[in-house]
Parts: sequence; structure tokens; C-alpha cells
Amino acid sequence: MLRNIDFQKLNKNPTPFYFYDLDLLRATIKELKSEAQKYQFKVHYALKANTDDRVLDIVSNEGLGADCVSGNEVKKALEHNFRAGDVFYAGVGKTDTEILTGIKAGIGCFNCESLQEITVINEIATKINKTARIALRINPHVDSKSHSYITTGIEENKFGIQLWELDEVLSVVRTLKNIKLTGLHFHIGSQITNMDIFKELCIKVNKINERVAGEGFELSLLNLGGGFGIDYEDPAENPVPDFKSFFGTFNKYLKVRTGQNVYFELGRSVVAQMGTLIAKVLYIKKGRSKNFAVVDAGMTELIRPALYNSVHKIENLSINGQEENPSEIYSTYDIVGPVCETTDFLGKGVSLPVTYRGDLLAVYSVGAYGQSMASNYNLREKAGVVYSDDL
Ligand code: LLP
Repeated sequence: MLRNIDFQKLNKNPTPFYFYDLDLLRATIKELKSEAQKYQFKVHYALKANTDDRVLDIVSNEGLGADCVSGNEVKKALEHNFRAGDVFYAGVGKTDTEILTGIKAGIGCFNCESLQEITVINEIATKINKTARIALRINPHVDSKSHSYITTGIEENKFGIQLWELDEVLSVVRTLKNIKLTGLHFHIGSQITNMDIFKELCIKVNKINERVAGEGFELSLLNLGGGFGIDYEDPAENPVPDFKSFFGTFNKYLKVRTGQNVYFELGRSVVAQMGTLIAKVLYIKKGRSKNFAVVDAGMTELIRPALYNSVHKIENLSINGQEENPSEIYSTYDIVGPVCETTDFLGKGVSLPVTYRGDLLAVYSVGAYGQSMASNYNLREKAGVVYSDDL
């Protein structure tokens, strides 16, 4: 995937760093927009995946809306010129201050996750004499069948209003003067690659949409969330996700009522493949059953392997990039970081050409939930970013 990048230029930067291929980001958004526009679907970008300033500028210039999950994300979206009306704000634990920020800014919609939250938003809006637009985030009981830590749409999850409490919620909503119910919101999980799951979601949404309309609510907004997965195994083969089949599935199975606009809030599928974590090999530790390549990046730069046992493709750029004939001798390594935690690994059992101290390794598909989930545990420095536009 980094084939077109000049290895020598990359090698000049202090490691570890994230490399962002902005051309790939632009190409991904272009494809996303062309497929979504076929059906007049509107797409918001889920900031949580990556809040890098240059990334956000590109996304907002391309005209996508913003999906936020904190007051600071709302502020950040507005700073990057997302239109307030195109900013949606979800999350189970919005504080009063965050709600106030959103109402004052005139954001497009609060995606509400509980009855109590709805009443609090109404109270705060009443105090400042405003009306807040809300959508009900409904937990549709559709299993995303992805990792249990990123599954959000089944009853045991903390997210959304349960179907059995919907009648009560609707009857309270009728009585509240300073909120306007504009839509329904769903988000069942992340890294979903099986389109049958989205088909199942559509079938559930169709029923719920009819039920709410039957109660006399004419809603203009139907938000299907994000969750579309990417190819972690072979990012070079599939750098741009198959948006055609994603949006095509919703177009085929979703029954949109007259006057309704359909929204999506995609994070991973927009930014994951444009990001690569570049780390330098510090030491090779030879073991009796396996070798460790100890590198200068770890769970502080990419927590996904530690947290979800996720697998990212890893290559040795020094060998692939420098020699005409890469070493034919391969060895198997656990690629581990410097952090004092056993779970601090970037890859396990990774087959690489024989690797040496000083080699640069590329960990692919880290544009989403890499930098945005970074920490400074062990007082580690923040890793920098190198952009393809600057090379
Ligand atoms: N909308 C809502 C309400 C969400 O909670 C999320 C992600 C998205 C949209 C965007 O989902 P995406 O299109 O990126 O799948 N840290 C995990 C992923 C957590 C996703 C949280 N919510 C990971 O690294 O796999």
C-alpha cells in the first residue's frame, strides 16, 4: 500500500508516526459520495474515528456532515466548518454542559438514548427558551456479529431506547414543549462486513418506522448509523470499501416514508485505510519458541490489538522498500511495543522477512481508531503525523 511512497523520505521522520495518505482519503470520499448520491442518502462522518485537523478539513470541504459523541467533538466539528445543522450529537452520557453547548450552537439533532436524557434536554432548552431537535436512538436488537466490544444493538448493551419502552417514550415526548422529535436513529455496531446484517437492520427499521408513524409522528430523518467494515487482511487489494454494496443494500431493503431523508454516520470506512503506523525496530529478541520484534510504537499509538485482539497487516518497509530482491528467508515474530503491559502488542505470529534492529515496520489500516484512541500511558510522547501531501 505504501508502494508509491518514497521510502527515503518516509525514513527521515522521527518514529513512531502515523502516515496519512490524503489522496486515498479523497478517493474514498469521492467513491462514497458517488454511491450515496445515487439514492440521495446523506452521509455524516463519525469524528471519533479520527479527529486530525487536516483530515477533518478534507471531510468538511467534501460536504459531509458530522457525527459527534461529546461536547468537544461538537466544538471541533464547528471549528472545522461543518454546518451546525449538519452536526448530530449521540452518546449515552451527555452532560448538562454538553447539552447546553449543542442547543446554543443550533446543532441539527441530538440522538437521544434514554427517556431521562430527553427530559433533561427539554428542561435545558426550556431554560434558554429554545427548541432542541431530537431523534430517538432505538436499540433494534440486531446482532452485528462483530467483536462483542463493538456490538451496540442488542438488549444487553447500554445503547439506545429499548423497543419495549418506546410507547412510554413517545407518550412523554408528546407532552414536552421544547423538543421536536424529528427522527429515528440506529447504530448496531462496527466493523460489519456481512450485508445480511444490514438487511436485517432494514427489516427491523421498517417495522419501527411504521409503528412510530402509526402513533401520529411524521418524522423527516431516518439515521442508520455507521458500522461498515473494511478489509484489514488485505488493505492493498481493497483500499476503498465497497460502498456500492453497502448503500445498495439499504436502497434495496429500506422502506423510506414520503418526506424522509436517510442519513448514515460512517467513521472507519472513511478513514481507516488511509492511515499507516510507522514504527522502528528497537530490538530483536530471539526466543526458543518464537521471536519478538520490539518496536518503538505500541498500545499507546494503536490500542486495537490489545483491546479487541484485532489483526492489522504488518510489513517490513526497510526490506520491501530498499532491496531489489527482498530476503527470501522469513521468520515469525510477535511485534511488541515498549509499554509495560503484556497486552502491548501490534501483531502476533507475524511472518516477515528476517528483520533487524533499525528496520521500519508499517502497520496498516490504522486511520480509524488509531490516533484518536492514543494515550500517553507510561508518559509516552504523542506520535506525530506525516501527510502524503507533504512528501
Ligand atoms: N455512530 C455511532 C453512534 C457510533 O457509536 C459509531 C462508532 C459510529 C457511528 C461510527 O461507526 P463506524 O462507521 O466507525 O463503524 N474503537 C472501535 C470502534 C468503536 C466504534 C464506536 N462507535 C474499534 O477500533 O474497532
